[in-house]
Amino acid sequence: MQTVITIDGPSGGGKSTVSRMLASQLHYAYLDTGAMYRAVGLYARKLGTDLESPGQVEEMLDSLELSLLPGDGDTRVLLGGEDVSEAIRTAEMGMVASRISALEQVRVKLTELQREIGAKGCVVAEGRDMGTVVFPQARHKFFLSASAEERAKRRVQQLAEQGEVVSFAEIMAQIEERDLADSTRALAPLKPAEDAIIIDSSRIPAQGVVDFIMDQLAAA
Ligand code: DC
Repeated sequence: MQTVITIDGPSGGGKSTVSRMLASQLHYAYLDTGAMYRAVGLYARKLGTDLESPGQVEEMLDSLELSLLPGDGDTRVLLGGEDVSEAIRTAEMGMVASRISALEQVRVKLTELQREIGAKGCVVAEGRDMGTVVFPQARHKFFLSASAEERAKRRVQQLAEQGEVVSFAEIMAQIEERDLADSTRALAPLKPAEDAIIIDSSRIPAQGVVDFIMDQLAAA
């Protein structure tokens, strides 16, 4: 198994910030698997795919051209050559991604793509099922969470920075809905791997979490 560090957890738990910082500190690639689910959601939307129809989902996945490029501190997401990095970041696309991520055909396809990227090694893989399903052999697994209130606060701020004005109550309700859907779905539900180190980041700044992870890596 090449060096893969997995970071799983619910939305808004600080995974993206921490994963990005960690990857940059270690000079590893950053694999943002949430962005992949979001991009598939956007693509299905563009095509008007009926998610209830396995045939249509198959067709959509067969024509999917998805690539991730390391960008300036972030990952650029290309869909058939078009840069959709910003378009996939809305709160609405988060909900669409959550819905599409419950489909087995989608998970099989994206798991395959994620393993191809992981096989190159030196990767920080961020998502919901990195430690449990996609890279169960990874030596270093972390599960990052924070209270729902704290996560909603961070999400509102993050969306505001992108120019999207949303109410705290609306985001809190979405977070609770997504947490429930992501953790109770039959396939690859959101849960810590048995050998993952669980970190509650409610009161720890991102750099503190990165320092803690670096200490754990050094001690392993
Ligand atoms: O991390 P994010 O908010 O960008 O993820 C968007 C959705 O994608 C999330 O609600 C659940 C899904 N997802 C998943 O099922 N498995 C992953 N490894 C990553 C994301």
